[in-house]
Amino acid sequence: MKVLAIETSCDETGVAVYDGKNLRDVLYSQRVHARFGGVVPEIASRDHMRKLLPLLHELLSPDELPAIDVIAATRGPGLIGSLLVGFGFAKSLAYALKKPFIGVNHLEAHIFSLKIEHEMETPFVCLLVSGGHTILMVVEEWGRYKILGETLDDAAGEAFDKVSKLIGLGYPGGPAIEKAAEEGNPRAFPFPTPDPPGYDMSYSGLKTAVLYTYQKLSPQEKIDKIPDLAASFQHHAVEQLILKLKKAVKETGINRIGLTGGVAANKLLREWAHELGEVFYPSRRYCTDNAAMVALTAYFYAQRGEFHELDVRADPSLSL
Ligand code: KG4
Ligand code: ZN
Repeated sequence: MKVLAIETSCDETGVAVYDGKNLRDVLYSQRVHARFGGVVPEIASRDHMRKLLPLLHELLSPDELPAIDVIAATRGPGLIGSLLVGFGFAKSLAYALKKPFIGVNHLEAHIFSLKIEHEMETPFVCLLVSGGHTILMVVEEWGRYKILGETLDDAAGEAFDKVSKLIGLGYPGGPAIEKAAEEGNPRAFPFPTPDPPGYDMSYSGLKTAVLYTYQKLSPQEKIDKIPDLAASFQHHAVEQLILKLKKAVKETGINRIGLTGGVAANKLLREWAHELGEVFYPSRRYCTDNAAMVALTAYFYAQRGEFHELDVRADPSLSL
């Protein structure tokens, strides 16, 4: 069974084919948003429209299309305009080729990204950390998730993006903070490590602490202290994730861990997580949004014979 999958939930346009064994995928990361300091939804939708067809042609020759058995696309959560481009395109293709269609949950696709390069066995504790979500869960089996805790305010990636913008490092913030932090001292600024009760997480206190500290710096310090600010923020932001992960491993007795989502690309998070158990994460290109993870998720549901009717709608706030 061969699945064609499309991803357009935010600012990456992706197309992939997967047949249970061979995976091919192409990806275009929209760079146009950098100068605005964050994703501009209208520009994102237009860029998806511009790139989707050329990417499909890059991946598949026209005579390969009839050999596709299932068409899939990200259904949500995400930016509604962006979702509609890929979702509408994929549904039209399914209609024209008379193939079954699957709308894929973007969060579940991030979990499935762990299967792209690893024989990932269940159960495992999964930390899904992206620009829009921060969820700690137990993946009891593929398709069955027990949520332990979530962020009460900003997502982890969102906090990286906001702090990066504040200290002048631009968008996307995660990689920029990580790079600047390499030259900095993580103990230079004693920011608080947030620790809400239970498994929940929060970034508002840490973010405010960085803001107040930054406002008190002289114009010269605002430049000289960038590496120290980045390293100190990263240290405390990651420490919170590790505290919750450690608690989950201890309380569930499961020491197989999966890190996924854009922030799972972070080296410090990966390094510290290795101290807690057997850790898996996708390579960097599959941590951030891509169509390969959508294809694997769709393949799983196609095997179970679970498809959507073509009147299914994209849902910007779809949950797990
Ligand atoms: O999964 P993703 O591509 O999109 C969403 O579904 O949100 O994640 C993007 C997020 C951005 O907030 C970005 O700053 C963050 O992941 N990110 C990182 C790193 N690389 C990307 N955060 C920390 N360290 C990184 N190396
Ligand atoms: Zn994502």
